[in-house]
Amino acid sequence: MALLQIEGGTPLQGHVRVSGAKNVVTKLLVASLLSNKKCRFTSVPDIGDVRVTVELCREIGALIEWDREEGVLETITPELKTSYIPQRFSGANRIPILMLGALLGRTNGEVIVPTVGGCDIGKRPVDFHVEALQKMGATIEHRRMLKESAWFAHAHDGLHGTVITLPYPSVGATENCLLAGSTATGTTVIKNAAMEPEVVELILFLQKMGVPVTIESDRTIRLLGTNRFYEAEHKIIPDRMEAASWATAAIATKGRIFVEGAEHGRMISFINKIRQIGGGFDIKEHGIEFFYTGSLQGGLHLETDVHPGFMTDWQQPFVVLLTQTQGLSIVHETVYENRFGYTDILREMGGDLTLFRHCLGGSECRFALKHFAHSLAVKGVTPLYGKEIVIPDLRAGFAYLLAALVASGKSKLSGLHFLERGYEKLDAKLEALGASFSREEERVPALEEALVN
Ligand code: EPU
Repeated sequence: MALLQIEGGTPLQGHVRVSGAKNVVTKLLVASLLSNKKCRFTSVPDIGDVRVTVELCREIGALIEWDREEGVLETITPELKTSYIPQRFSGANRIPILMLGALLGRTNGEVIVPTVGGCDIGKRPVDFHVEALQKMGATIEHRRMLKESAWFAHAHDGLHGTVITLPYPSVGATENCLLAGSTATGTTVIKNAAMEPEVVELILFLQKMGVPVTIESDRTIRLLGTNRFYEAEHKIIPDRMEAASWATAAIATKGRIFVEGAEHGRMISFINKIRQIGGGFDIKEHGIEFFYTGSLQGGLHLETDVHPGFMTDWQQPFVVLLTQTQGLSIVHETVYENRFGYTDILREMGGDLTLFRHCLGGSECRFALKHFAHSLAVKGVTPLYGKEIVIPDLRAGFAYLLAALVASGKSKLSGLHFLERGYEKLDAKLEALGASFSREEERVPALEEALVN
């Protein structure tokens, strides 16, 4: 098993370049399946989730050439080889469910998609996806077999545009509606749609492919289905989760990092919180420099929310940072009901963290009175101590890595394939920042490990 041994306490100093966004490239790869035209992507990160999605697309018939060094990927799907997604992709990530939207318009046959996986951060249902596609004319059924379960779907009479009002601005459900609406007859209107930058990138790419799509006010997207597609090329935007990860690492380790590719416009709410705790930042032409200013104050109320709010994927490393701020801070998670599971380990490392089931710090969220431990009080400053940790999911993984970098003493991190689902060239970046660490060689290639987990 691969292990990272980390000797904490060294301020991280230097320069990192943020890689392409995981949650953009994987969705654009799926979108490329809508047509039989060539698509070309640049700034593609070589990470576990992209490798899995590439395998998934190849399974369906995509011919893919990927120059991993250059980050250039070309794909074309002349025809569908199959519309059955094998079970081995079920636990790998959240991408398979999007195959319903992408493939239902391209085949009259059945699309079979295994029950989706992804990080273990709550129930993560797909009811919004299924209800929206049914409203567009798909017949969808969930079948449980002896050891497996899958969605069986078809749209023998094709998909048709309609008005879909999402109960919550779900990123994945908005993306599925966009994919399905691209080949549906007539106009699809998505109300209460997610407006995350990653969703906007999918919209831009669909427009390049030939789909007339507009973003209207008040979370409404309108698109007209087509069967005439064009070749398209797209540069993947830098990953704002990775950017925030290095930003928190700079400040929590009392260092200074120039995060090349960190984009001001996509990190507004994050930067506000950095300012509130007294963290330093300097917004430059090609990125943002984040640095420790000598003291950090807590007393923060942080609520995760849909874009343009403070994103839920920034929450975990930020909580580690809050352990290094003076005073009591409150974090209210309103996107996922169960995204504080990782805090147990931080407590064992010395963090003063208390979970609450009610909504702390002001507004009530949709988890009020539902008994989920979704509010957190963090009291600082607390020293952290090194520990042996098995990483359970991607974002928790970076929080543990950061805690280990801040802690005094040695930590050992295993389960690194989770981290490598979303962080490219992690060792090289840590080395460039002067982190004190070593790695024991991997026995199992990351892709295979990701596929069996
Ligand atoms: N939800 C439902 N029913 C649905 C769909 C969503 O109840 O049918 C609920 C979810 O349970 C959750 C909330 O709606 O409570 C938001 O979920 P959403 O659908 O927006 O999330 P997602 O599409 O599954 C993506 C990212 C996540 C990111 C969220 C929120 C990908 C592959 N994943 O997930 O990223 O946290 O949007 O921004 O795009 C990560 O990268 O580590 C990650 C978890």
